[in-house]
Amino acid sequence: MDKIVVEGGNRLVGKIPISGAKNAALPILCAALLPTGASTFKNVPQLADVKTMAKLLRMLGWTVEGEKTTYTIAPPTGKKKPKLEAPYDLVKTMRASVLVLGPLVARYGRARVSLPGGCAIGARPIDQHLKGLQALGAKVTLDHGYVEVEAKRLRGATIVLDMPTVTGCENLMMAAVLAKGRTVIENAAREPEIEELATVLNKMGARIQGAGSPMMTIEGVDELLPIEHSIMPDRIEAGTFAVAAAMTRGDVLLEGARPEHLEAVIAKLRACGVTVAAESGGMRVRGGGDINAVDIVTQPHPGFPTDMQAQFMVLACMAKGQSVIKEMIFENRYMHVPELGRMGADIVIDGRTAIVRGGPKLTGAAVMATDLRASASLILAGLVASGKTEVLRVYHLDRGYEAIEKKLRAVGAKIKRAKQ
Ligand code: EPZ
Repeated sequence: MDKIVVEGGNRLVGKIPISGAKNAALPILCAALLPTGASTFKNVPQLADVKTMAKLLRMLGWTVEGEKTTYTIAPPTGKKKPKLEAPYDLVKTMRASVLVLGPLVARYGRARVSLPGGCAIGARPIDQHLKGLQALGAKVTLDHGYVEVEAKRLRGATIVLDMPTVTGCENLMMAAVLAKGRTVIENAAREPEIEELATVLNKMGARIQGAGSPMMTIEGVDELLPIEHSIMPDRIEAGTFAVAAAMTRGDVLLEGARPEHLEAVIAKLRACGVTVAAESGGMRVRGGGDINAVDIVTQPHPGFPTDMQAQFMVLACMAKGQSVIKEMIFENRYMHVPELGRMGADIVIDGRTAIVRGGPKLTGAAVMATDLRASASLILAGLVASGKTEVLRVYHLDRGYEAIEKKLRAVGAKIKRAKQ
Protein backbone atom coordinates (compact mmCIF):
# COMPACT_ATOMS: atom_id res chain seq x y z
CA MET A 1 0.00 0.00 0.00
CA ASP A 2 1.21 3.54 -0.74
CA LYS A 3 1.38 6.53 1.53
CA ILE A 4 1.82 10.20 0.76
CA VAL A 5 4.38 12.27 2.69
CA VAL A 6 3.96 16.05 2.87
CA GLU A 7 6.27 18.68 4.42
CA GLY A 8 4.19 21.72 5.33
CA GLY A 9 4.99 25.39 4.83
CA ASN A 10 5.30 26.02 1.09
CA ARG A 11 3.13 28.47 -0.84
CA LEU A 12 1.52 27.03 -3.99
CA VAL A 13 2.30 29.14 -7.06
CA GLY A 14 1.74 28.22 -10.71
CA LYS A 15 -0.70 26.30 -12.92
CA ILE A 16 -2.60 23.08 -12.18
CA PRO A 17 -4.34 21.26 -15.07
CA ILE A 18 -7.79 20.02 -14.03
CA SER A 19 -8.67 16.48 -15.20
CA GLY A 20 -12.00 15.19 -16.52
CA ALA A 21 -14.78 14.83 -13.94
CA LYS A 22 -14.93 11.46 -12.15
CA ASN A 23 -18.64 11.86 -11.40
CA ALA A 24 -19.39 12.63 -15.03
CA ALA A 25 -17.12 9.92 -16.49
CA LEU A 26 -18.67 7.09 -14.44
CA PRO A 27 -22.29 7.52 -15.64
CA ILE A 28 -21.12 8.38 -19.16
CA LEU A 29 -19.15 5.13 -19.45
CA CYS A 30 -22.38 3.34 -18.49
CA ALA A 31 -24.29 5.32 -21.11
CA ALA A 32 -21.95 3.70 -23.66
CA LEU A 33 -23.95 0.48 -23.05
CA LEU A 34 -26.92 2.07 -24.85
CA PRO A 35 -25.91 2.82 -28.47
CA THR A 36 -25.63 0.23 -31.25
CA GLY A 37 -21.98 0.97 -32.09
CA ALA A 38 -18.61 2.12 -30.70
CA SER A 39 -18.45 5.47 -28.86
CA THR A 40 -15.28 7.41 -28.07
CA PHE A 41 -14.78 9.55 -24.97
CA LYS A 42 -11.90 11.99 -24.46
CA ASN A 43 -10.61 13.75 -21.33
CA VAL A 44 -11.49 10.68 -19.26
CA PRO A 45 -9.69 11.00 -15.89
CA GLN A 46 -7.04 8.35 -15.13
CA LEU A 47 -8.56 7.14 -11.86
CA ALA A 48 -8.97 3.82 -10.07
CA ASP A 49 -12.78 4.14 -10.22
CA VAL A 50 -12.70 4.66 -13.99
CA LYS A 51 -10.49 1.57 -14.41
CA THR A 52 -12.97 -0.39 -12.26
CA MET A 53 -15.87 0.77 -14.43
CA ALA A 54 -13.95 -0.22 -17.59
CA LYS A 55 -13.36 -3.66 -16.04
CA LEU A 56 -17.10 -4.00 -15.35
CA LEU A 57 -18.06 -3.07 -18.92
CA ARG A 58 -15.60 -5.68 -20.22
CA MET A 59 -17.15 -8.28 -17.88
CA LEU A 60 -20.53 -7.44 -19.42
CA GLY A 61 -19.08 -8.16 -22.89
CA TRP A 62 -18.26 -4.67 -24.22
CA THR A 63 -14.80 -3.98 -25.61
CA VAL A 64 -13.14 -1.07 -23.85
CA GLU A 65 -9.94 0.29 -25.33
CA GLY A 66 -8.51 2.80 -22.87
CA GLU A 67 -5.50 4.77 -24.05
CA LYS A 68 -4.60 7.24 -21.23
CA THR A 69 -7.53 9.70 -21.31
CA THR A 70 -9.32 8.38 -24.40
CA TYR A 71 -11.71 5.42 -24.20
CA THR A 72 -13.47 3.65 -27.08
CA ILE A 73 -16.33 1.43 -25.98
CA ALA A 74 -18.06 -1.01 -28.35
CA PRO A 75 -20.95 -3.45 -27.79
CA PRO A 76 -20.53 -7.21 -28.19
CA THR A 77 -20.98 -8.22 -31.85
CA GLY A 78 -21.89 -11.38 -33.76
CA LYS A 79 -22.32 -14.48 -31.59
CA LYS A 80 -21.08 -12.70 -28.44
CA LYS A 81 -24.07 -11.99 -26.21
CA PRO A 82 -23.93 -9.38 -23.43
CA LYS A 83 -23.74 -10.64 -19.87
CA LEU A 84 -26.31 -8.77 -17.81
CA GLU A 85 -24.86 -9.22 -14.32
CA ALA A 86 -22.57 -7.02 -12.16
CA PRO A 87 -21.01 -9.25 -9.47
CA TYR A 88 -20.63 -8.43 -5.76
CA ASP A 89 -16.82 -8.60 -5.70
CA LEU A 90 -16.72 -5.73 -8.18
CA VAL A 91 -19.72 -3.69 -7.04
CA LYS A 92 -18.45 -3.69 -3.42
CA THR A 93 -15.34 -1.81 -4.58
CA MET A 94 -17.31 0.85 -6.44
CA ARG A 95 -20.97 1.62 -5.77
CA ALA A 96 -21.30 3.56 -9.03
CA SER A 97 -21.50 0.09 -10.66
CA VAL A 98 -25.25 0.29 -9.96
CA LEU A 99 -25.39 2.71 -12.90
CA VAL A 100 -25.40 -0.25 -15.30
CA LEU A 101 -28.94 -1.12 -14.14
CA GLY A 102 -30.76 1.55 -16.14
CA PRO A 103 -29.02 1.10 -19.49
CA LEU A 104 -29.04 -2.73 -19.38
CA VAL A 105 -32.72 -3.09 -18.55
CA ALA A 106 -33.61 -0.37 -21.09
CA ARG A 107 -31.70 -2.04 -23.92
CA TYR A 108 -31.85 -5.75 -23.04
CA GLY A 109 -34.89 -6.03 -20.77
CA ARG A 110 -32.97 -7.43 -17.82
CA ALA A 111 -30.13 -6.68 -15.40
CA ARG A 112 -28.86 -8.30 -12.22
CA VAL A 113 -26.60 -6.19 -10.02
CA SER A 114 -25.22 -6.82 -6.56
CA LEU A 115 -26.66 -4.40 -4.03
CA PRO A 116 -23.80 -2.00 -3.28
CA GLY A 117 -24.17 -2.17 0.50
CA GLY A 118 -23.10 0.71 2.68
CA CYS A 119 -19.85 2.62 2.47
CA ALA A 120 -17.67 4.62 4.81
CA ILE A 121 -19.75 7.81 4.55
CA GLY A 122 -23.19 6.29 4.99
CA ALA A 123 -25.79 3.61 4.24
CA ARG A 124 -26.38 5.05 0.74
CA PRO A 125 -29.42 2.93 -0.18
CA ILE A 126 -30.68 2.74 -3.77
CA ASP A 127 -34.41 2.61 -3.01
CA GLN A 128 -35.08 5.63 -5.23
CA HIS A 129 -33.32 4.00 -8.18
CA LEU A 130 -35.55 0.91 -7.77
CA LYS A 131 -38.76 2.87 -7.11
CA GLY A 132 -38.17 4.77 -10.35
CA LEU A 133 -37.49 1.62 -12.37
CA GLN A 134 -40.70 0.07 -11.00
CA ALA A 135 -42.59 3.21 -12.03
CA LEU A 136 -41.21 2.64 -15.55
CA GLY A 137 -42.83 -0.80 -15.50
CA ALA A 138 -39.88 -2.96 -14.45
CA LYS A 139 -40.25 -5.96 -12.15
CA VAL A 140 -37.70 -5.56 -9.34
CA THR A 141 -36.76 -8.52 -7.14
CA LEU A 142 -34.16 -8.63 -4.35
CA ASP A 143 -32.52 -11.91 -3.43
CA HIS A 144 -29.22 -13.09 -1.98
CA GLY A 145 -27.82 -9.57 -1.98
CA TYR A 146 -28.63 -8.95 -5.63
CA VAL A 147 -31.28 -6.84 -7.34
CA GLU A 148 -32.82 -8.22 -10.52
CA VAL A 149 -34.70 -5.82 -12.82
CA GLU A 150 -36.78 -7.07 -15.75
CA ALA A 151 -39.08 -5.45 -18.31
CA LYS A 152 -40.13 -6.41 -21.83
CA ARG A 153 -40.12 -2.74 -22.69
CA LEU A 154 -40.02 0.09 -20.18
CA ARG A 155 -42.81 2.60 -20.55
CA GLY A 156 -42.69 6.30 -19.72
CA ALA A 157 -44.05 7.47 -16.35
CA THR A 158 -43.96 10.37 -13.93
CA ILE A 159 -41.44 9.75 -11.15
CA VAL A 160 -41.32 11.94 -8.05
CA LEU A 161 -38.04 11.40 -6.19
CA ASP A 162 -38.01 11.62 -2.37
CA MET A 163 -34.69 13.45 -2.65
CA PRO A 164 -32.63 14.73 -5.61
CA THR A 165 -30.35 11.66 -5.81
CA VAL A 166 -27.53 12.14 -8.35
CA THR A 167 -26.89 8.55 -9.46
CA GLY A 168 -30.58 7.77 -8.91
CA CYS A 169 -31.45 10.39 -11.54
CA GLU A 170 -28.69 9.18 -13.81
CA ASN A 171 -29.92 5.58 -13.65
CA LEU A 172 -33.47 6.66 -14.43
CA MET A 173 -32.38 8.93 -17.28
CA MET A 174 -30.53 6.02 -18.91
CA ALA A 175 -33.59 3.80 -18.45
CA ALA A 176 -36.17 6.30 -19.69
CA VAL A 177 -34.37 7.27 -22.92
CA LEU A 178 -35.40 3.94 -24.53
CA ALA A 179 -38.77 3.61 -22.78
CA LYS A 180 -41.99 3.85 -24.77
CA GLY A 181 -43.53 7.27 -24.24
CA ARG A 182 -42.78 10.25 -22.01
CA THR A 183 -41.07 10.20 -18.61
CA VAL A 184 -41.09 13.12 -16.20
CA ILE A 185 -38.62 13.08 -13.30
CA GLU A 186 -39.64 15.50 -10.56
CA ASN A 187 -37.35 16.62 -7.73
CA ALA A 188 -34.49 15.75 -10.08
CA ALA A 189 -30.85 16.34 -9.13
CA ARG A 190 -29.40 19.48 -10.74
CA GLU A 191 -25.64 18.79 -10.60
CA PRO A 192 -23.52 19.76 -13.65
CA GLU A 193 -22.79 16.04 -14.08
CA ILE A 194 -26.52 15.46 -14.66
CA GLU A 195 -26.48 18.06 -17.44
CA GLU A 196 -23.34 16.49 -18.89
CA LEU A 197 -25.02 13.05 -19.02
CA ALA A 198 -28.09 14.58 -20.68
CA THR A 199 -25.80 16.22 -23.28
CA VAL A 200 -24.20 12.84 -24.03
CA LEU A 201 -27.55 11.01 -24.25
CA ASN A 202 -29.06 13.73 -26.48
CA LYS A 203 -25.99 13.53 -28.75
CA MET A 204 -26.80 9.79 -29.02
CA GLY A 205 -30.32 10.69 -30.16
CA ALA A 206 -32.23 10.84 -26.88
CA ARG A 207 -34.78 13.56 -26.26
CA ILE A 208 -34.18 14.97 -22.77
CA GLN A 209 -35.29 18.42 -21.70
CA GLY A 210 -34.88 20.26 -18.41
CA ALA A 211 -31.59 18.64 -17.27
CA GLY A 212 -30.16 20.88 -14.53
CA SER A 213 -33.64 21.91 -13.39
CA PRO A 214 -35.82 20.15 -10.78
CA MET A 215 -38.05 18.68 -13.51
CA MET A 216 -36.70 16.64 -16.42
CA THR A 217 -38.79 15.42 -19.38
CA ILE A 218 -37.64 12.46 -21.47
CA GLU A 219 -39.39 11.37 -24.68
CA GLY A 220 -38.42 7.72 -25.27
CA VAL A 221 -36.85 6.72 -28.59
CA ASP A 222 -36.28 3.30 -30.16
CA GLU A 223 -32.52 3.37 -30.68
CA LEU A 224 -29.44 5.39 -29.75
CA LEU A 225 -26.38 5.90 -31.92
CA PRO A 226 -22.67 5.98 -30.98
CA ILE A 227 -20.95 9.35 -30.47
CA GLU A 228 -17.70 11.08 -29.61
CA HIS A 229 -17.55 13.32 -26.53
CA SER A 230 -14.97 15.10 -24.35
CA ILE A 231 -15.78 14.97 -20.64
CA MET A 232 -16.26 18.14 -18.57
CA PRO A 233 -13.59 19.17 -16.03
CA ASP A 234 -13.80 17.92 -12.45
CA ARG A 235 -15.30 20.68 -10.31
CA ILE A 236 -14.45 18.93 -7.02
CA GLU A 237 -10.81 18.46 -8.01
CA ALA A 238 -10.76 22.16 -8.94
CA GLY A 239 -12.41 23.10 -5.64
CA THR A 240 -9.92 20.99 -3.72
CA PHE A 241 -6.93 22.76 -5.32
CA ALA A 242 -8.63 26.13 -4.82
CA VAL A 243 -8.70 25.45 -1.07
CA ALA A 244 -5.04 24.39 -1.22
CA ALA A 245 -4.12 27.70 -2.86
CA ALA A 246 -6.16 29.62 -0.27
CA MET A 247 -4.63 27.79 2.71
CA THR A 248 -1.03 28.26 1.56
CA ARG A 249 -1.67 31.91 0.67
CA GLY A 250 -0.66 30.92 -2.84
CA ASP A 251 -1.51 32.04 -6.36
CA VAL A 252 -2.70 29.21 -8.61
CA LEU A 253 -4.34 29.08 -12.04
CA LEU A 254 -6.68 26.06 -12.26
CA GLU A 255 -6.49 25.30 -15.99
CA GLY A 256 -9.81 24.24 -17.50
CA ALA A 257 -11.83 24.75 -14.33
CA ARG A 258 -15.32 26.15 -14.95
CA PRO A 259 -16.31 28.77 -12.32
CA GLU A 260 -19.98 28.34 -13.25
CA HIS A 261 -19.82 24.78 -11.82
CA LEU A 262 -18.53 26.04 -8.45
CA GLU A 263 -20.63 29.09 -7.61
CA ALA A 264 -21.46 28.07 -4.02
CA VAL A 265 -17.82 27.13 -3.33
CA ILE A 266 -16.50 30.37 -4.87
CA ALA A 267 -18.96 32.41 -2.78
CA LYS A 268 -17.65 30.79 0.39
CA LEU A 269 -14.00 31.20 -0.66
CA ARG A 270 -14.62 34.90 -1.23
CA ALA A 271 -16.38 35.16 2.15
CA CYS A 272 -13.20 33.68 3.65
CA GLY A 273 -11.24 36.53 2.07
CA VAL A 274 -9.83 34.53 -0.87
CA THR A 275 -9.56 36.10 -4.35
CA VAL A 276 -11.16 33.99 -7.10
CA ALA A 277 -11.44 35.11 -10.73
CA ALA A 278 -12.18 33.53 -14.10
CA GLU A 279 -8.98 33.71 -16.20
CA SER A 280 -7.72 32.26 -19.53
CA GLY A 281 -10.12 29.35 -19.72
CA GLY A 282 -9.81 28.51 -16.06
CA MET A 283 -9.95 29.99 -12.61
CA ARG A 284 -7.24 31.86 -10.67
CA VAL A 285 -7.25 31.55 -6.86
CA ARG A 286 -5.12 33.79 -4.63
CA GLY A 287 -4.78 33.39 -0.89
CA GLY A 288 -3.81 36.48 0.97
CA GLY A 289 -4.17 37.82 4.46
CA ASP A 290 -6.22 36.40 7.28
CA ILE A 291 -8.84 33.75 6.58
CA ASN A 292 -12.32 34.63 7.83
CA ALA A 293 -14.47 32.01 9.58
CA VAL A 294 -17.57 31.08 7.56
CA ASP A 295 -20.51 28.73 8.14
CA ILE A 296 -21.26 25.89 5.67
CA VAL A 297 -24.39 23.79 5.11
CA THR A 298 -24.02 21.06 2.48
CA GLN A 299 -26.98 20.84 0.10
CA PRO A 300 -27.84 19.32 -3.29
CA HIS A 301 -26.64 21.45 -6.22
CA PRO A 302 -26.70 24.44 -6.57
CA GLY A 303 -26.07 24.45 -2.80
CA PHE A 304 -22.65 23.89 -1.25
CA PRO A 305 -21.46 20.41 -2.37
CA THR A 306 -20.98 17.71 0.26
CA ASP A 307 -17.88 16.60 -1.69
CA MET A 308 -16.18 19.87 -0.64
CA GLN A 309 -17.09 19.70 3.07
CA ALA A 310 -13.94 17.97 4.32
CA GLN A 311 -11.67 20.29 2.33
CA PHE A 312 -13.42 23.39 3.66
CA MET A 313 -13.15 22.09 7.20
CA VAL A 314 -9.35 22.26 6.92
CA LEU A 315 -9.56 25.84 5.63
CA ALA A 316 -11.80 26.62 8.61
CA CYS A 317 -9.07 25.28 10.93
CA MET A 318 -6.90 28.19 9.75
CA ALA A 319 -9.61 30.84 10.07
CA LYS A 320 -9.82 33.48 12.80
CA GLY A 321 -12.74 32.41 14.96
CA GLN A 322 -15.39 29.69 14.90
CA SER A 323 -16.97 28.09 11.83
CA VAL A 324 -20.12 25.96 11.94
CA ILE A 325 -20.36 23.18 9.34
CA LYS A 326 -23.52 21.12 8.78
CA GLU A 327 -23.31 17.94 6.68
CA MET A 328 -26.89 17.45 5.48
CA ILE A 329 -26.36 14.86 2.73
CA PHE A 330 -24.50 11.91 4.29
CA GLU A 331 -24.89 10.74 7.87
CA ASN A 332 -21.28 9.75 8.49
CA ARG A 333 -19.04 12.12 6.59
CA TYR A 334 -16.86 13.38 9.47
CA MET A 335 -14.26 10.61 9.60
CA HIS A 336 -11.55 13.11 8.74
CA VAL A 337 -12.26 14.91 12.04
CA PRO A 338 -10.42 12.57 14.47
CA GLU A 339 -7.47 12.49 12.06
CA LEU A 340 -7.38 16.31 11.88
CA GLY A 341 -7.60 16.30 15.67
CA ARG A 342 -4.35 14.33 15.79
CA MET A 343 -2.78 17.23 13.88
CA GLY A 344 -3.98 19.71 16.50
CA ALA A 345 -7.29 20.84 15.00
CA ASP A 346 -9.98 21.93 17.48
CA ILE A 347 -13.24 20.47 16.10
CA VAL A 348 -16.29 19.33 18.04
CA ILE A 349 -18.99 17.16 16.41
CA ASP A 350 -22.60 17.32 17.53
CA GLY A 351 -24.71 15.08 15.28
CA ARG A 352 -24.62 16.56 11.80
CA THR A 353 -22.90 19.73 13.02
CA ALA A 354 -19.17 20.32 13.32
CA ILE A 355 -17.91 23.33 15.28
CA VAL A 356 -14.45 24.29 14.08
CA ARG A 357 -12.46 26.62 16.32
CA GLY A 358 -9.82 28.09 14.05
CA GLY A 359 -6.41 29.20 15.21
CA PRO A 360 -4.27 26.34 16.59
CA LYS A 361 -1.29 25.73 14.33
CA LEU A 362 -1.56 22.27 12.79
CA THR A 363 1.38 19.93 13.33
CA GLY A 364 2.37 17.07 11.03
CA ALA A 365 1.44 13.49 12.01
CA ALA A 366 0.81 10.04 10.57
CA VAL A 367 -2.92 10.00 9.69
CA MET A 368 -5.30 7.49 8.12
CA ALA A 369 -7.35 8.08 4.98
CA THR A 370 -10.87 6.67 5.33
CA ASP A 371 -12.73 7.86 2.25
CA LEU A 372 -12.00 9.85 -0.87
CA ARG A 373 -12.61 13.42 0.20
CA ALA A 374 -11.39 12.84 3.76
CA SER A 375 -8.04 11.76 2.31
CA ALA A 376 -7.88 14.95 0.25
CA SER A 377 -8.50 17.03 3.38
CA LEU A 378 -5.57 15.31 5.14
CA ILE A 379 -3.26 16.17 2.24
CA LEU A 380 -4.44 19.80 2.47
CA ALA A 381 -3.76 19.82 6.21
CA GLY A 382 -0.25 18.47 5.56
CA LEU A 383 0.46 21.37 3.20
CA VAL A 384 0.20 23.85 6.08
CA ALA A 385 1.10 21.73 9.13
CA SER A 386 4.54 22.23 10.69
CA GLY A 387 6.76 19.26 9.99
CA LYS A 388 5.95 16.03 8.19
CA THR A 389 2.53 14.48 7.61
CA GLU A 390 2.13 10.89 6.36
CA VAL A 391 -1.27 10.03 4.88
CA LEU A 392 -1.75 6.26 4.91
CA ARG A 393 -4.09 4.11 2.76
CA VAL A 394 -3.98 6.52 -0.17
CA TYR A 395 -5.83 4.03 -2.37
CA HIS A 396 -8.86 6.01 -1.20
CA LEU A 397 -7.31 9.10 -2.78
CA ASP A 398 -6.43 7.38 -6.06
CA ARG A 399 -10.12 6.62 -6.63
CA GLY A 400 -10.88 10.26 -7.30
CA TYR A 401 -7.71 12.32 -7.78
CA GLU A 402 -5.40 11.84 -10.75
CA ALA A 403 -1.72 12.13 -9.73
CA ILE A 404 -2.50 14.60 -6.94
CA GLU A 405 1.05 14.60 -5.58
CA LYS A 406 2.52 15.36 -9.04
CA LYS A 407 0.09 18.23 -9.57
CA LEU A 408 0.81 19.72 -6.15
CA ARG A 409 4.60 19.24 -6.46
CA ALA A 410 4.52 21.12 -9.77
CA VAL A 411 3.29 24.24 -7.95
CA GLY A 412 5.76 24.06 -5.07
CA ALA A 413 4.43 21.57 -2.54
CA LYS A 414 6.97 19.32 -0.79
CA ILE A 415 5.07 16.08 -1.35
CA LYS A 416 5.89 12.57 -2.48
CA ARG A 417 4.42 9.09 -2.67
CA ALA A 418 6.20 6.26 -0.83
CA LYS A 419 5.63 2.64 0.10
CA GLN A 420 3.70 2.36 3.40
C1 EPZ B 1 -23.14 11.05 -5.94
O1 EPZ B 1 -23.33 9.95 -5.07
C2 EPZ B 1 -21.64 11.23 -6.05
N1 EPZ B 1 -21.04 10.03 -6.65
C3 EPZ B 1 -21.05 11.48 -4.66
O2 EPZ B 1 -19.66 11.73 -4.82
C4 EPZ B 1 -21.71 12.74 -4.09
O3 EPZ B 1 -21.23 12.95 -2.79
C5 EPZ B 1 -23.23 12.56 -4.05
O4 EPZ B 1 -23.72 12.24 -5.39
C6 EPZ B 1 -23.95 13.80 -3.57
O5 EPZ B 1 -23.65 14.88 -4.39
C7 EPZ B 1 -21.13 9.86 -7.99
O6 EPZ B 1 -21.69 10.67 -8.71
C8 EPZ B 1 -20.48 8.62 -8.55
P1 EPZ B 1 -27.03 10.61 -3.83
P2 EPZ B 1 -24.81 9.30 -4.94
O7 EPZ B 1 -27.79 9.45 -4.37
O8 EPZ B 1 -25.54 9.43 -6.20
C9 EPZ B 1 -29.73 9.28 -0.19
C10 EPZ B 1 -17.38 11.54 -4.31
O9 EPZ B 1 -16.73 11.82 -3.29
N2 EPZ B 1 -30.30 8.31 -1.13
O10 EPZ B 1 -27.23 11.96 -4.45
O11 EPZ B 1 -24.64 7.95 -4.33
C11 EPZ B 1 -28.27 8.97 0.13
O12 EPZ B 1 -28.18 8.05 1.19
C12 EPZ B 1 -18.73 10.85 -4.17
O13 EPZ B 1 -17.03 11.79 -5.49
C13 EPZ B 1 -31.35 7.49 -0.69
O14 EPZ B 1 -31.76 7.56 0.45
O15 EPZ B 1 -25.47 10.27 -3.87
C14 EPZ B 1 -27.72 10.33 0.50
O16 EPZ B 1 -28.03 10.59 1.86
C15 EPZ B 1 -19.07 10.57 -2.71
N3 EPZ B 1 -31.90 6.60 -1.56
C16 EPZ B 1 -28.52 11.29 -0.38
O17 EPZ B 1 -29.67 10.56 -0.83
C17 EPZ B 1 -31.46 6.49 -2.86
O18 EPZ B 1 -32.02 5.65 -3.62
C18 EPZ B 1 -27.78 11.78 -1.62
O19 EPZ B 1 -27.27 10.64 -2.26
C19 EPZ B 1 -30.40 7.33 -3.28
C20 EPZ B 1 -29.84 8.23 -2.41
